[in-house]
Amino acid sequence: MQNDRESQIPHEQKSYWREYKDIPSYPALQVNESTDIAVVGGGMVGVISAYLLAKAGKKVALIEAGKLVDGVTGRTTAKITAQHGLYYNSLIQIVGEEQAKLYYQANMDGLKFIEDTAKELSIDCDFSHHNAFVYANTVAGAKQIEKEAEAYMKLGIDGELAKDEVELPFSVEEAIVMRNQAQFHPVKFLAGLIKEIERLGGKIYEQTRAMKILSKNDPVIQTENLSHLSCNKVIVASHYPFNDFDGMYFSRLKVNRSYAIAAKVKGNVPNDMYISGDMPSRSLRYAPGENGEKLLLIGGDGHATGKSSSETIEHYYNLEKFGNEHFGIEEVPYRWSSQDMTTLDTIPYIGTITAGYDNILVATGFHKWGMSNGALAGMLLSDQVLGNENRYAPVFDPTRTKVKTKDAVSFAKDNASVAKSLVTGKLKRASKTVDDLGKDEGSLVRVGKKKAGGYRDEYGQVHLVDTACTHMGCDVKWNDAERSWDCPCHGSRFSYTGEVLNGPAVKPLKKIETEQ
Ligand code: FES
Repeated sequence: MQNDRESQIPHEQKSYWREYKDIPSYPALQVNESTDIAVVGGGMVGVISAYLLAKAGKKVALIEAGKLVDGVTGRTTAKITAQHGLYYNSLIQIVGEEQAKLYYQANMDGLKFIEDTAKELSIDCDFSHHNAFVYANTVAGAKQIEKEAEAYMKLGIDGELAKDEVELPFSVEEAIVMRNQAQFHPVKFLAGLIKEIERLGGKIYEQTRAMKILSKNDPVIQTENLSHLSCNKVIVASHYPFNDFDGMYFSRLKVNRSYAIAAKVKGNVPNDMYISGDMPSRSLRYAPGENGEKLLLIGGDGHATGKSSSETIEHYYNLEKFGNEHFGIEEVPYRWSSQDMTTLDTIPYIGTITAGYDNILVATGFHKWGMSNGALAGMLLSDQVLGNENRYAPVFDPTRTKVKTKDAVSFAKDNASVAKSLVTGKLKRASKTVDDLGKDEGSLVRVGKKKAGGYRDEYGQVHLVDTACTHMGCDVKWNDAERSWDCPCHGSRFSYTGEVLNGPAVKPLKKIETEQ
């Protein structure tokens, strides 16, 4: 149910990061081509991998389904930190101390890579060091933070309890700091690398959607417009693997959406980075605004994709309400949302896509922390392609088999939930007809004796699609915050005209033609 404030929230999405326009454009791949390494996906992982491989003298071609740096990387909070909320106490229980320590070190190496590379290439990407805090407002949350502090001690993490250092306009029960973390502008950073890839002789193609990898030994990528890219190895950096062979990624990844705003506020904007340990999650940092002012960036309010219990637009309202209560919002020039994936044991899958497919590498499941993990993935994958040892490879190996009982239960529950979504979606009846749709409204509608997904645009034109997701057939659900059809099963998203916005689906929703 919308209230007055929500009805004032414009539907237009504008990412703060995508305001930066100095990103080169590239043509689509229209002919058949061959290369040493093909990289699929023009975000953090794809661009860093392509840069490192081109720098090592490899012939590289990077293909992107839409525009470069327009996916998850252009819709992040852009904290570069190994502090992933309240994480290490639970990670030790899942994978043990040794692996947890390596995970921390790997993320710190990711941070260092971004800092060193920006310096080396003189990329002005607003990089700056800050402490990162997790805070709790409840007694239960404070207890969790104390346990996290013990985990920091065990793992040798540079940080400790630090309630007195918190500079927020409300009191907290407890807080923990991780020192010397960082933030930056990811689009400015990657734009610098993209230019460098080109200078090093790498090829880049936009509007080139990979549909299939035709052979596992001598891979050939078939694209949507039926051009082919032959290569020795493929790096699948498309966020969700578009072709997972027998990797069963769709049943090993949980998909979530989360929201962010950047606001002008009356109160003081904190200099450091914060995230709440309690629910609902709130993530804070500043971002440089015009004339030296600081915008307050607030992230959070996540939910499983296609499974929001309320109207999706309400999530922006919740962030604004929090910002207004504590900082006094004057204006919200930017709003955006993003999609993240989490693996069974919460450590990303980075490496060979599945046993026996040594020429196809993947990186996915960054658990909302795609900057440090993404940089690490780029380094790890390029090392694997070049045959270099990397001590983190076993930690992130997608073919790792050790699944603890807790994870196995979560696995079973998720698959049960997918099966339920498949059935309930099919049984759901449409209560509206096309005529009931107001302007800028989307809903399940009755079309004759069938149902369809309908959206009436601002000019009054109705767009109808078949709601069966082209990945595995679950019914998609309307997302009113982004005017998209979202699949509750594995997170594919489609525009109101049916085009793929996020995989694993690669084919558009079927359009339904009617006389209007
Ligand atoms: Fe798998 Fe829709 S994303 S069925």
